[in-house]
Amino acid sequence: MSLTDFRTLGRSGLVVSPLALGTMTFGPGGWNADDQTARAMFDAYRDAGGNFIDTADIYSGGESERLIGQFLKDSGSRDEIVLATKFGFNASASPLSARQSGGGNPNAGGAGAKNIHRALDASLKRLGTDHIDLYWMHIWDGVTPAAEIVQTLGDLVRTGKIRYYALSDMPAWLAMQVATVARERGVPGPIALQLEYSLVARDVEAEHFPAAHEAGMAVVPWSPLGGGFLTGKYARGDTADSGRLSGPNPFGDSKFAERNWDILEVLKAVAGELDRPPAQVALAWVMARKGVGSTLIGARTVEQLDSNIAATRIVLSDDQMQRLDDASAPVPGFSASLAHPGVRRMVFGGHGVAGWGER
Ligand SMILES: NC(=O)c1ccc[n+]([C@@H]2O[C@H](COP(=O)([O-])OP(=O)(O)OC[C@H]3O[C@@H](n4cnc5c(N)ncnc54)[C@H](OP(=O)(O)O)[C@@H]3O)[C@@H](O)[C@H]2O)c1
Repeated sequence: MSLTDFRTLGRSGLVVSPLALGTMTFGPGGWNADDQTARAMFDAYRDAGGNFIDTADIYSGGESERLIGQFLKDSGSRDEIVLATKFGFNASASPLSARQSGGGNPNAGGAGAKNIHRALDASLKRLGTDHIDLYWMHIWDGVTPAAEIVQTLGDLVRTGKIRYYALSDMPAWLAMQVATVARERGVPGPIALQLEYSLVARDVEAEHFPAAHEAGMAVVPWSPLGGGFLTGKYARGDTADSGRLSGPNPFGDSKFAERNWDILEVLKAVAGELDRPPAQVALAWVMARKGVGSTLIGARTVEQLDSNIAATRIVLSDDQMQRLDDASAPVPGFSASLAHPGVRRMVFGGHGVAGWGER
């Protein structure tokens, strides 16, 4: 496989690479890349054949979008690139300070029509383009009705200001509701779901993956390396690497759980057999999962990015996939218990009836 192993994203005609360039590290920030490095990563990704770039209005206070706009202009590559950005977090205050102190403009965040139009116009300006190829609702605001989300985003598709829209970080029931409202109305619906998904974050398999499949949405995983944990550069009992999970950081130390260290051991064993870095094997595992459309890779240096792109060349054997699956299997909850084959046999008089898409 390579970055030119193109596929459509969900049930749509949008054609993307198997790895998308995540640009949360573009622009100022303690664990980010400087402008020159960001440009070099943009070039390296394109040189490798990649066409799918993911940013957000909130990344580095809009600087990520501004940089990408500049790189697109300088390289004359706007038409070749599937440009994705996001709205949803509040533009009048950083999410953390707003959560604590209030005082921001409530209509400068969320999925209400007023904010979406404001956010889109600001993103288009920073990106120096007249349309977004894939517009993500970054996060569920907890209040805006699905019907309004469909109306606003569907209208924007019809005007051409966005070509497609998709949903990130929200309950599966809401994603399904948005997709269902759109389908029943015969209007444009969401084509993908962006979620945290990796060997150390598999809880979305219970509700989100089936919802995505049912609604024709591709799963687009973020943090496929668990923010750097699955590179193997942190050690049990010594997490003082200079990466972004060490020291005070917005991600906390939640990845340093006992269970995750055990998963890492199995990952390292498989990586050893293949003589490849653990990060590449972790990415290969994510890419091979059914339902995954394109995986978001993040990097702070060109070397990291080049190495991560090389994950497209790894083919895991059935046995290696199985060992990784077993080591990282999520603790089954209520939803997973309903999907147990034994339940179906109980319902269908002892027969394991195969449903649509299972044969
Ligand atoms: N929708 C959402 O809510 C959401 C949330 C998060 C991210 N995203 C998107 O997903 C993209 C990827 O997420 P992510 O950055 O969290 O992904 P990730 O792959 O889990 O983590 C990337 C980080 O791991 C380290 N790293 C990456 N490759 C490495 C390598 N080969 N060797 C050693 N260290 C390596 C780097 O940090 P250090 O070098 O500092 O350790 C890098 O910044 C983002 O850019 C963004 O576009 C979306």
